[in-house]
Amino acid sequence: MIARINELLQEVEALKAANAEELEALRIKYLSKKGAVNELMADFRNVPADQKKEVGMRLNELKNKAQEKIAALKEQFESRDNGCEDLDLTRSAYPVKLGTRHPLSIVKNEIIDIFARMGFNIADGPEVEDDWHVFSAMNFAEDHPARDMQDTFFIENNAENVSHNIILRTHTSSVQSRVMENTQPPIRIICPGRVYRNEAISYRAHAFFHQVEALFIDRNVSFTDLKQALLLFAQEMFGKDTKIRLRPSYFPFTEPSAEMDISCNICGGKGCRVCKNSGWLEILGSGMVHPNVLRMSGYDPDKINGYAFGMGVERIAMLKYGIDDLRLFFENDLRFIRQFK
Ligand code: DAH
Repeated sequence: MIARINELLQEVEALKAANAEELEALRIKYLSKKGAVNELMADFRNVPADQKKEVGMRLNELKNKAQEKIAALKEQFESRDNGCEDLDLTRSAYPVKLGTRHPLSIVKNEIIDIFARMGFNIADGPEVEDDWHVFSAMNFAEDHPARDMQDTFFIENNAENVSHNIILRTHTSSVQSRVMENTQPPIRIICPGRVYRNEAISYRAHAFFHQVEALFIDRNVSFTDLKQALLLFAQEMFGKDTKIRLRPSYFPFTEPSAEMDISCNICGGKGCRVCKNSGWLEILGSGMVHPNVLRMSGYDPDKINGYAFGMGVERIAMLKYGIDDLRLFFENDLRFIRQFK
């Protein structure tokens, strides 16, 4: 009997359980009514009297050991459960899938690349801006309709001098005035950034969107230089066969001014709702920097001149990818976003 007890003691010492069911099976095997320990207890009465003391002690030892061991295993499970609490079981397994860039970032980076190859550097300015840099320094008259509540989001709108009002910039042209006020020519910069307008949201307009502004200031800059830069950009962006069209236009900060259209590649020029049935899509405004703007920036317009243009990133992305609803860019629907690599 002592031999059997020793054998069981060794077994118990080495017990292992992988889960709660295995542990319960062990408990039944050793500690239940019909378990190994009770079986030996039942045999106890057959033990010769002179061995009863020793066998009894060993039997008790076995029973205690088995109880301790099983309790210890149980505790291990429970503490392992606690250890799981800070594990994120919803996390996806390896390999972790990489995300994709937002189509607006892809297009913005492409625009930056094209102009970087032409020697333009990146400049930036604040989105919360004063009226001076957005409007006054850009030659907007005090009563110009673009300053109207309908277009502009105001942060502080009670300054005695309108130029001191604080607003959300409505165009990245504000960065032109920021750069010119503390830089001497030559200047060759582009400014990508977000702009805000108090407009109703629809498939072709949003209350915020993205622009890239360009400014070139030097001596003897001509309209031909501007046209050449625009043509080069359009062909790099949309392919060598891309057609552009310059229409005379008006902006307070340029004279002369022109809007540039690109042949609409959503409808192939036939006319659709995005190009308003014209076959062309306006993508940017441009012109020769107005002498007043040069003067306000401290330059002498008789010696220094330049060109500027500004484009909407959403517009260009819509043309490039054939997207006909601008709101898709801001809904962050993964089914949409994952299509762009
Ligand atoms: N700031 C104009 C807008 O938001 C775009 C623009 C037009 C920028 C002509 C220019 C420019 O630099 O020369 O509609």
